[in-house]
Amino acid sequence: MEVITSFRKQEEFALDTTKARQSDILNGLKNDGIVILPNYIQEAVLEGLNKEFETLLKTKNRAIKAFDLEKGAGVGITRSKLKEKEFPYTHWFYNQPLMHDIKDKYVHPTAPLNSKIYVVNDLVGTTTYANTLHYDVQKCLKFFIYLNDVTANNGAFEFIAGTHHWVEDIRRSKDANKITFENRDFSRELPHDESHIIPLEAKAGTMFIFDTDIFHRTGTTSIGERKIMRGHTYFDQAKAKDPLFKKTI
Ligand SMILES: [Fe+2]
Repeated sequence: MEVITSFRKQEEFALDTTKARQSDILNGLKNDGIVILPNYIQEAVLEGLNKEFETLLKTKNRAIKAFDLEKGAGVGITRSKLKEKEFPYTHWFYNQPLMHDIKDKYVHPTAPLNSKIYVVNDLVGTTTYANTLHYDVQKCLKFFIYLNDVTANNGAFEFIAGTHHWVEDIRRSKDANKITFENRDFSRELPHDESHIIPLEAKAGTMFIFDTDIFHRTGTTSIGERKIMRGHTYFDQAKAKDPLFKKTI
């Protein structure tokens, strides 16, 4: 397999949040599979999200389910069941008009926006499947936010931009049926050069949007902690015929 080369820096994927137009975001997603919006979240909102982050991790109900982590904590939220009164910031943030527009154009108008939201506190010793370079078996668009400052030391998200094109070719080929949860290793056989992987180091309040078909992984938290939220919009929840929307098995 030929190694996919990419010699680019993190800054090349960042837009000026105050000036970025929706078309800039869409172009970035189409070409690179990722767009970074530094300082996207205003201070008061960031404070509100951080407060809700703490409460969400302690809440269990119809909408909010904890998942098992040896170290750290995480919950998965069904957005349609999340109570606005209890979590106004999270509820508002993941239902923004901008996100709807991007989702309609990049995924599909029939795909439900952010049907799941994941809230995770990574600590030293937190490990997941996602620590290995991969693309998600279930293709999705993620709106990912850092709630604290993140560097390579505390678990920066890592990626190789543009690799979603390579994965999309597989999804359109006869090998597409090899991409299943059962056959997870297949989505980890990736032609890449370790030195091309970029750790996304950024301040609290940064949002990045990415297509999970890019090669990516969760960095390891070796000092301190990482606080994140991410909204998932699944391609296979759209009503569309293109192979990219094929039901995940
Ligand atoms: Fe992933």
